[in-house]
Amino acid sequence: MRHVYGVANRKGGQGKSTTVSTVARLCALYGARVLVIDLAQPGTTTSSLRDIWPDREHSDLSSAMMSFHLLPPGSAPAPELALAALEAVALPVELASQPSWSGGSIHVLPWDEMQSDAAAHFLSERVLEGFIAALAPQIDLTFIDFPAEGGPLMTNALIASDHIIVPLIPETPALEGLEAMLRLLTRVRASGHPINLAGILLTRCDQKNKRVFEIVQTIRQSGEVEGEPLGRRLYPYAVRQTEFYEQAFRYGEPIWERTQDFAQWAAYVLLAEQILRESGLERLTRTRRGPALMPPETRIFDISVLLPANSEVMLGDFEKTHATLRA
Ligand SMILES: Nc1ncnc2c1ncn2[C@@H]1O[C@H](COP(=O)(O)OP(=O)(O)OP(=O)(O)O)[C@@H](O)[C@H]1O
Ligand SMILES: [Mg+2]
Repeated sequence: MRHVYGVANRKGGQGKSTTVSTVARLCALYGARVLVIDLAQPGTTTSSLRDIWPDREHSDLSSAMMSFHLLPPGSAPAPELALAALEAVALPVELASQPSWSGGSIHVLPWDEMQSDAAAHFLSERVLEGFIAALAPQIDLTFIDFPAEGGPLMTNALIASDHIIVPLIPETPALEGLEAMLRLLTRVRASGHPINLAGILLTRCDQKNKRVFEIVQTIRQSGEVEGEPLGRRLYPYAVRQTEFYEQAFRYGEPIWERTQDFAQWAAYVLLAEQILRESGLERLTRTRRGPALMPPETRIFDISVLLPANSEVMLGDFEKTHATLRA
């Protein structure tokens, strides 16, 4: 079983890149070997990893993709050919691993501006899948920052993904992006690829904003949409709205270098742990360290409780209530 998580929403600006970058760093910190594929213009995920970017030359993913533009529909590149094409452009870039990562790593296939054009020449929808399969022996988990526009690059990304995480800011137009994404997943499944909605992650949530709870209610009451029980797909923890994410991006650093308040990124720790467990890497989650070492009184923005007044829950209590999460 491959563990490829696409992070996608048909509407932009929902926190895709922030999610990929933050969760990839956390999974590496737990010791996972992570591959990040950045397909999203203008390469925000790629540039958000600047602090650990090594000083070495590489060429473009789009050049490696072009080697396979004549591959017939339905076929994936042979692993040795895919590896050779990546080696020719010195990809993936291996980021400078931190001493605290205890064996974890991050490899990146960075964004470049020719990706969409390159993919437009594809006959096969399985080129990206072939690259991921070729790298599989050195990788535990893959995250794909999805392109915004539909087309062959998006199709390749969907076929390469097993699970989709949809980040969502609590605003009504964002729900349209979610619905459009769900329709797309239905189409992909109908084509024979078993892609699964891993979860919906509320991002940029402000405690004082009543919209958060209206959106949660709307999602809960929507029942099944495109065969998905939406309420049950909502992650119970929400990412807080904080300027530290913008700052972190500006400096190309993780948010925990900008603030020491664990509450600001706690949802991403819980998400990273959930992904590791789903991927058979539960053993890695047993010891929390560094930015994951949240004190039990860390405030979790718990959206499984209905009343805004109760939404601040201490980590210790949150984990008791959601025992299945850390079972
Ligand atoms: N939790 C947060 N609190 C405050 N700002 C945030 C948060 N998460 C992301 N942002 C900011 O919101 C903007 C959009 O986030 P991000 O770039 O991650 O979204 P995206 O879905 O990748 O967007 P795009 O569609 O442009 O690729 C960025 O400026 C980012 O710094
Ligand atoms: Mg982005």
